[in-house]
Amino acid sequence: MAATVITGIGELTTHDDELGTRTDAALVVEDDRIVWVGSARDVPDADERVDVGGRAVLPGWVDSHTHLVFAGDRTAEFAARMSGQPYRAGGIAVTVDATRRASDAELADTLRRHVDEAASQGTTCVETKTGYGLTVADELRSAQVAAAIADEVTFLGAHLVPPGTDSDDYVDLVCGEMLDAVGEHVGWCDVFCEEGAFDAAQSRRVLTAARKRGLGLRVHGNQLGPGPGVALAVELDAASVDHCTHLTSADVDALVNSDTVATLLPACDLSTRQPLPDARALLDAGATVALASNCNPGSSYTSSMAFCVATAVLQMRMSVAEAVRAATWGGARALRRETGDGAVGVLSPGSRADLQVLDAPSATWLAYRPGVPLTHAVWRKGDRVR
Ligand code: NIG
Repeated sequence: MAATVITGIGELTTHDDELGTRTDAALVVEDDRIVWVGSARDVPDADERVDVGGRAVLPGWVDSHTHLVFAGDRTAEFAARMSGQPYRAGGIAVTVDATRRASDAELADTLRRHVDEAASQGTTCVETKTGYGLTVADELRSAQVAAAIADEVTFLGAHLVPPGTDSDDYVDLVCGEMLDAVGEHVGWCDVFCEEGAFDAAQSRRVLTAARKRGLGLRVHGNQLGPGPGVALAVELDAASVDHCTHLTSADVDALVNSDTVATLLPACDLSTRQPLPDARALLDAGATVALASNCNPGSSYTSSMAFCVATAVLQMRMSVAEAVRAATWGGARALRRETGDGAVGVLSPGSRADLQVLDAPSATWLAYRPGVPLTHAVWRKGDRVR
């Protein structure tokens, strides 16, 4: 087995309690795993040596919330929004139309291009959702396309009630035939619990049906206004509740006393002209926070986790360490992949060899030099992908 030593690391962020953040560090990659982390002076011999010249190394970004099985774009909707129109979830139907018309090969090609685009910016683990099909056949092929490419796949049949359909009839379809069809291709089920999408009772039905089939749960909640999403996610012990833009203090308390991660999507809030979430209230109270891109053609068309991190630091009063942790370890926790053999979002012996080298001496530069492409090198599953 060929081993590679990465040495000359100026600042190494590990998210391992014992290893911490280190200077003058080195690590060893063998196959798809990190096998050693320590001080550069103790580094073992290896077949290959890569000196990163004093640059910062951190875990690859874990993007725990994207919607990348889609076709078409919504440039006109975005431009109208920037001219003062409000964001309406109904725009999802435009992408549904285009997605239904696209072939499986076209959907796979679009997904692959976005995953590669993200990898070139340091993202090494991607979750993606179905949710632009909304028929049994289109949700099934969306799930199949996603399962072949993404690290984690979430069924989001309950994204929007298809126009012209009775909402309770549609929930029956999602809970029955649709879940039966997609179940073996996905690990998670999500629901858009929001006024104009699915109410609390409908969302609970979908999530309960999914749990009976052994799927993990996630919720889109509190995106466009206060609502029942967070409370429902906590009640059902969902792994994450995503958006959290409009939280009450009861929502924050509920999250603190739960295992549910609050996944914040600042690029989406900027692109839809919503306020940014109150990350400080969550962190100061002790909730677990993740940052994700929410890359999709409607509400957040960026794959840049570095942009999300810079926004979180500059505009949401997160420290650099908090934002980097939320975009790596936090995302991994939201996907329940932060511990054990092959863990992501952490750099310690046994974790997946997913790491990024910044063209900067420390992670602080992600916010200090916002908008500047700082990705120097990326390893994913032990392979150098950039
Ligand atoms: O997370 N909130 C619902 N779903 C997506 C929006 C998708 C779209 O507008 O196409 C989101 O923002």
